[in-house]
Amino acid sequence: MAEDIPVRQHQDALFRQIEAYVPIRGRPIPIRPPLKEAFYRFPRHAFVSGYRRPGINWGEPVMSGDPGFLAGAYENRPLMYVDESGRTLEASSSEPAFIFHLAELLDVRPGQRVLEIGCGTGWLVALLSHLVGPEGHVTGVEINPHLHAQAARNLSAQSVTNATVLAGDGFGVCKNQSFDRLIMTASAFHLPHRLLTILESGGKAVIPIRNRGLAEEAHLLERVDDRLEARVTRLCKFVPMTGSSATGASVIHIDDDPVLNRLRSVPLSRTEMTFGQDNPGDMLRHALPLTACLSKTTPTFRAYALGPYGRGGLDIAVFGDPDSYGFGLADEARGSAAVWHKGIVSAYGTPHCASDLAEKVQRWIEAGRPSGFAFGLTITAGDAAPPEDHMMGVYREDRGDLAFWWYIRPPEQRI
Ligand SMILES: C[S@@+](CC[C@H](N)C(=O)[O-])C[C@H]1O[C@@H](n2cnc3c(N)ncnc32)[C@H](O)[C@@H]1O
Repeated sequence: MAEDIPVRQHQDALFRQIEAYVPIRGRPIPIRPPLKEAFYRFPRHAFVSGYRRPGINWGEPVMSGDPGFLAGAYENRPLMYVDESGRTLEASSSEPAFIFHLAELLDVRPGQRVLEIGCGTGWLVALLSHLVGPEGHVTGVEINPHLHAQAARNLSAQSVTNATVLAGDGFGVCKNQSFDRLIMTASAFHLPHRLLTILESGGKAVIPIRNRGLAEEAHLLERVDDRLEARVTRLCKFVPMTGSSATGASVIHIDDDPVLNRLRSVPLSRTEMTFGQDNPGDMLRHALPLTACLSKTTPTFRAYALGPYGRGGLDIAVFGDPDSYGFGLADEARGSAAVWHKGIVSAYGTPHCASDLAEKVQRWIEAGRPSGFAFGLTITAGDAAPPEDHMMGVYREDRGDLAFWWYIRPPEQRI
């Protein structure tokens, strides 16, 4: 779009895409009038002073006032924030259509108290402040001081009076407060115990959760007594949380797995495992839902980076590259490991892991290849009693002080 087009036309074009948004899995949701009003009241470009478009060739940073700045700011895609010197930050203005979808799932009402963790430069805080109205309040938390300062400036420039942005690290910042709604726009592997009490009873949270491996899902969770119950699940990809909720190793380098290192001197067999595709590149697409499933159901599951990647915060770079991504099972107690890489499973030590992996892949295929979207989740304290059973079983995963109880939803409950 040309730069001399008025802002309103850029907004109209973006809003049409937001309205037409259909999630990769799950039902679309209509955007209701209050969120539409908020979209036009708070122009996206007023909340980004400079950005890079993510992609293989990220290109030059585009700063406010540069040719093409407005047009880029109204594309329906994430924009990586850059600082004044053009350095890319590990933070982005998220893809608008997806954020609006999540905001509608969150169902924010007038008068509510809402918390956003990872508020960046404040656009979503501003949008939410419109939804809660003058009787409500929005609190944004941002760990990056540069972005926090921008958020404070942007909200003030837009005359937002019912929102506060705090500088700091996630949940630690709002120690004694509770909220009706919570949204996180960075994804976490470990979440603090505080998550169980930060919401009022019946309160709702949208939380992007990382798994072991590259699959990630955002869950709409509702507080029921002392637990959180997932109501809706969406496939997603957010930047990782930093600070005390930092991701940890969702993918580990193959040379850094102590179990595998001990067993590699005892190679056992090499077997083909292709999930029906000939080409390793195509297999990776199928490996994503498979590993989303294995990460929840199989404690011995590991996702591996190979080659030069995977040391110190690797993530997305590796996916799509068959040379640099693998996964497998490693079982210390049974002296067994199996690694899938480019269609071949290499077994080490005893054969348990190789046969376990083959069986689990077969069961996954028979179950219709469920992705992370098929999974429901209950989060409790680590020492709480298990939640109700589900037809196809419940899988416990310990994450710090919390227990995650995963289960496969029947197809009609996957909304
Ligand atoms: C994808 S950006 C989202 C920005 C904005 N909410 C949006 O949707 O456009 C995620 C933000 O989370 C912030 N963040 C990461 N870890 C955090 C933490 N532990 N506490 C607070 N903010 C954090 C990052 O600095 C980044 O600005």
